[in-house]
Amino acid sequence: MFIDNKRVPIKSPLDINRIRQACKIVESTLHYLKQFIKPGVSTGYLDKKAEKFIIKKGGIPDLKGYKGFPASICASVNNVAAHGIPSGYLLREGDIVSLDITLSFNGWHGDATWTYPVGNPTPDARRVIAAAWQACLAGIKAAAPGIPVGDIGWAITEAARSCGCSVIEDYVGHGIGRAMHEEPRIPNFGVKGRGFKLVPGMVFTIEPMVNLGGPEVVIGEDKWAILTCDNSLSAQFEQTIAVLKDSIEVLTFSQGNIFESLDYPIFL
Ligand code: MF3
Ligand code: CO
Ligand code: CO
Repeated sequence: MFIDNKRVPIKSPLDINRIRQACKIVESTLHYLKQFIKPGVSTGYLDKKAEKFIIKKGGIPDLKGYKGFPASICASVNNVAAHGIPSGYLLREGDIVSLDITLSFNGWHGDATWTYPVGNPTPDARRVIAAAWQACLAGIKAAAPGIPVGDIGWAITEAARSCGCSVIEDYVGHGIGRAMHEEPRIPNFGVKGRGFKLVPGMVFTIEPMVNLGGPEVVIGEDKWAILTCDNSLSAQFEQTIAVLKDSIEVLTFSQGNIFESLDYPIFL
């Protein structure tokens, strides 16, 4: 179908099943990486562990080489909102780190991000991670067949604001399938009732980046890292979701109902 003159691929149930398989590997990669997130571990080490794991599962960590990106995952620490290049940086107690995993499996893609505290989280770390989690959940909750896309962005912004945080407006969620980035664009802000309507067969990410301070960002010297202008902490949760006939499915979350998730009990 066409939206604003741009082609949006609509997936068949069989296609969705293929994306689901890719998303399962994304989810298990994140689960696997959790054990290594400790003070003294480098983000480069997490990248190497992720790369090996993804390949062992039959996936291709296709971030590597994407527009020249030098690693298999993005690892974004503290004031880096996203697109952090894994490096020799050693994680420290109180840091937060967002891990963004994108891969393909048999030619179909999946994409998810989680932000984790390193060691014992500071009050600020808790606050920004909780806000990003609530913002992502609010976006997912708003999504349903027939609803206008503006409802998703509106819900995301409201949730982040009610936690005293702001949402970066420079980046959006995206369709995903045969390619890592496809139409449609899913903004993290919006006006209720506005925008195109979701239809069954759309598969896309919801991926708000939430800042403790202001929403402004700037690209770092490495030309990749997205940094908060005020140096405040930034957290992100990203899930790949599919619009089905009368519901949506979170393809990167298979541990039960995401709205009742106890993954972050300390924040809820
Ligand atoms: N996985 C990222 C996303 O959510 C894409 C990162 S592309 C990179 O869309 F090259 F910047 F890493
Ligand atoms: Co994405
Ligand atoms: Co991603």
